[in-house]
Amino acid sequence: MSNIKPEHKPVLLDQVVKYAMPESGKIFVDGTFGLGGHTRAILEKYKKIELAIGIDRDPEILKYARENFDEPRLTLFQAKASDLPAVLENLRIEKVDGILLDLGVSSYQLDNPDRGFSFSKSGPLDMRMNADEGETAADLVNTLSQSELEKIIFEYGEERFGRKIAESIIRYRSSKTIETTDELAKIVCDVVPNQPKNIKHIHPATRTFQALRIAVNHELDEISEFLNIALDCLNPNGHLSIISFHSLEDRIVKNFIQKNIKGCVCPPQFPVCVCGKKPTIKLLTRKAIFAEDDEIKKNPRARSARLRSIAKI
Ligand SMILES: C[S@@+](CC[C@H](N)C(=O)[O-])C[C@H]1O[C@@H](n2cnc3c(N)ncnc32)[C@H](O)[C@@H]1O
Repeated sequence: MSNIKPEHKPVLLDQVVKYAMPESGKIFVDGTFGLGGHTRAILEKYKKIELAIGIDRDPEILKYARENFDEPRLTLFQAKASDLPAVLENLRIEKVDGILLDLGVSSYQLDNPDRGFSFSKSGPLDMRMNADEGETAADLVNTLSQSELEKIIFEYGEERFGRKIAESIIRYRSSKTIETTDELAKIVCDVVPNQPKNIKHIHPATRTFQALRIAVNHELDEISEFLNIALDCLNPNGHLSIISFHSLEDRIVKNFIQKNIKGCVCPPQFPVCVCGKKPTIKLLTRKAIFAEDDEIKKNPRARSARLRSIAKI
């Protein structure tokens, strides 16, 4: 662990606590444990919880949590959220009563220059949540073709200057390997115009860094894989809450909700249902819940957070 003091303000805390568990639930899973801020508050509120399972794919965060989170009801696993079935098998548990995912990276990861997530801090261009496996962002920017880079930056970053940025990366790397966050930030800033003053300012490299982080960690595939297994891991009436931070993540969650909330899918002209499909979930939050201005003032990360909660039928 670096000597950065780990800090992370949990977003939408009161709302998450409200929907995290059925009142009498006994087993809770935090699939993105981080520094455990949400879990701490949930354990505080739901006294009937006998076991909280904290999962994080980042070994460094988990090490910190193991050393600093003193809570007899908590057990921690270094794994991906989509590995939940294996985690439950390991604990000889079949189903749980509440699952929370708070997606993305924590402020601790962002603030640590060694992890390479932030364009505002100079460090190696890494961006892996689990620094023990997979390709780094430097591997991607130095090896992918121009069209592959453009696709990643355009799709995952929703960055309209994707083509210019990809061209600029290819030009730069023809004379020097891209190694650091500030090198990449400069390559992007050289071709992305500054926002006009009347538009809320975001750093020109924000979207490119987000895109590469998503690609490095296969974040969207991971959400889909998790959602494929989530309902099987929940008891009837169990709650599933997901906080996402951009529209790509939220779209996957919304599609999952639409698919599972529907009953009969027979064509309307059929006089009786022959498909037999029943809804498998119900909504706890009718629409996505966003942070209030007050919270956003204290914690700008909350600006793009949105929470959706459902219960298994
Ligand atoms: C936004 S932070 C969570 C913060 C946490 N709720 C808290 O209050 O401290 C996200 C954390 O989840 C981890 N993470 C992100 N996606 C994950 C996944 N699919 N599986 C496991 N861990 C994940 C990251 O490493 C990071 O530590």
